[in-house]
Amino acid sequence: ARLVVLVSGSGTNLQALIDAVADPAFGAEIVAVGADRDSIAGLDRAERAGLPTFVHRVKDHADRAAWDTALTAAVAGHRPDLVVTAGFMKILGPEFIAAFAGRIVNTHPALLPAFPGAHGVADALAYGVKVTGCTVHLVDGGVDTGPIIAQGVVAVEETDHADGGAALHERIKTVERQLLVDVVGRLAREGHRIEDRKVWIPA
Ligand code: GRF
Repeated sequence: ARLVVLVSGSGTNLQALIDAVADPAFGAEIVAVGADRDSIAGLDRAERAGLPTFVHRVKDHADRAAWDTALTAAVAGHRPDLVVTAGFMKILGPEFIAAFAGRIVNTHPALLPAFPGAHGVADALAYGVKVTGCTVHLVDGGVDTGPIIAQGVVAVEETDHADGGAALHERIKTVERQLLVDVVGRLAREGHRIEDRKVWIPA
């Protein structure tokens, strides 16, 4: 399967996928990495792996709709079977969602539907939850609202309240990377079907 991965930051989830696709048995190849900004470690990781990259910043386009059109065309040009948004910090536009419906996989560092949005780790910590975690889901038109594929649980420690969630997010990312690689591999090899918001992957 052909993967396009979209990133906005350090790209450790991308790195986990780069490492995983090196095994031919994984059943996928990363054909391109896209970003919404320049000068991020995620793009360095892609370049070190010899992968084609592209950047589409919202501010380089007339408006959000034009950015949506440009990003959709850039991704479509690589003929992806799956698009993976791993730490991609923009809400994908309606044109993008329509073009790749049912084939966009996102990872979120909280147990959706709890704590969606850009501050899921801090929001969970502030709420005082005892467990949180990460969710791999299909992207629909909402923010972190698409059908859930897999989740991983991470316990919250008392010391987590001392560093604004940094240590907790690192523990979540350790689980998240493994969950994402597992799910993307299974989707790539087995395909999937969606029934009434439930995503099923053949065992
Ligand atoms: C991940 O925890 C992702 O779920 C969240 O931001 C983090 C990105 O990490 N949206 P990285 O860029 O993959 O290292």
